[in-house]
Amino acid sequence: MAGSVLVCGGAGYIGSHMARLLAENGYDVTVFDNLKTGYRAAVRWGRFVAGDLLDPAALKELFASKRFEVVFHFAGLISVAESVAQPAAYYRNNVEGTLNLLAAMQAAAVERIVFSSTAAVYGNPISDVIDESHPKAPINPYGWSKRMVEQILADYAAAYGLRSVCFRYFNAAGAHPDGTMGEAHDPETHLVPNALRVAQGELPELRVFGRDYGTPDGTCVRDYVHILDLCAAHLAAIDWMNQTPGASIFNLGSGSGFSILDVIRTVAAVTGKPVPHSFGERRAGDAATLVADSRLARERLGWKPAFADLASIVETAWRWQQNRAY
Ligand SMILES: NC(=O)c1ccc[n+]([C@@H]2O[C@H](COP(=O)([O-])OP(=O)(O)OC[C@H]3O[C@@H](n4cnc5c(N)ncnc54)[C@H](O)[C@@H]3O)[C@@H](O)[C@H]2O)c1
Repeated sequence: MAGSVLVCGGAGYIGSHMARLLAENGYDVTVFDNLKTGYRAAVRWGRFVAGDLLDPAALKELFASKRFEVVFHFAGLISVAESVAQPAAYYRNNVEGTLNLLAAMQAAAVERIVFSSTAAVYGNPISDVIDESHPKAPINPYGWSKRMVEQILADYAAAYGLRSVCFRYFNAAGAHPDGTMGEAHDPETHLVPNALRVAQGELPELRVFGRDYGTPDGTCVRDYVHILDLCAAHLAAIDWMNQTPGASIFNLGSGSGFSILDVIRTVAAVTGKPVPHSFGERRAGDAATLVADSRLARERLGWKPAFADLASIVETAWRWQQNRAY
């Protein structure tokens, strides 16, 4: 047994895949989740503890139940649009919830945490390819809530010696290749699952927001990274934190940009079905192009994405979409 780890938000899309990878690597996994946007059926690896990061008593009990070596913190509210309408809920859940988690860790002398940050901390990019030194200027409360936690982790490293890794994900996509688990946000705002639902006939058409961006085909360009590649980086973060004090930050993206129309074409090719779509106005807050420079993660963590092309990412998502268990 490789040690005990805690996966906060382990009933959600990314956290459930991480719980599985940790269990497959011999870790004793505990999942803590309030099931607000997650699924009990997604927790199939390790012990499940129902609870909320906004409940310090539940956290105290959780940390008394086991001695965790590392905490993986995926729990958060994730909708940009909702965060604009309900900033209080986002700051409370994502920032106060994290402060509660850090307090419980400190009381139990747990000194390592991996945190899910986001490309949204960069705001409107000033370059097409973004490395970690790009200015941080979030343009919505969701992005700010993540940026605040990054700062908190840096301050806790300096004052208390907490070791941390923040991963700034670009667009997480795909599903476990065995087809038994995958993305299930409700409402779903992500492009790949929505395009697949159109291909399947579950939705009549896909709305494309804006076709007048300064990109090759006028639609937004994004960087899609497979869920298992994201998880592999988190696994590598354990060794990294054992060797490296302080707070580290890494982008996680494939380094390749695909337009919305590229994704639609790929979904049509993989599924063999048409993806009817129409064009609407641009959405506020959408940058034209967001592509990661992930050299730092490759160099320092030895990270190498295994799902290098968009078609292989979409294939896994399609397998899940056709046979969704939740
Ligand atoms: N999906 C992406 O493309 C993407 C991109 C960038 C960053 N992220 C970040 O990655 C993390 C995971 O994203 P996801 O797509 O798996 O989202 P998700 O909604 O599927 O998972 C989040 C999980 O956290 C749980 N949770 C939320 N607040 C909680 C609380 N207060 N107490 C206990 N549990 C709580 C939810 O019930 C859910 O199971 C999030 O923090 C998100 O901001 C995701």
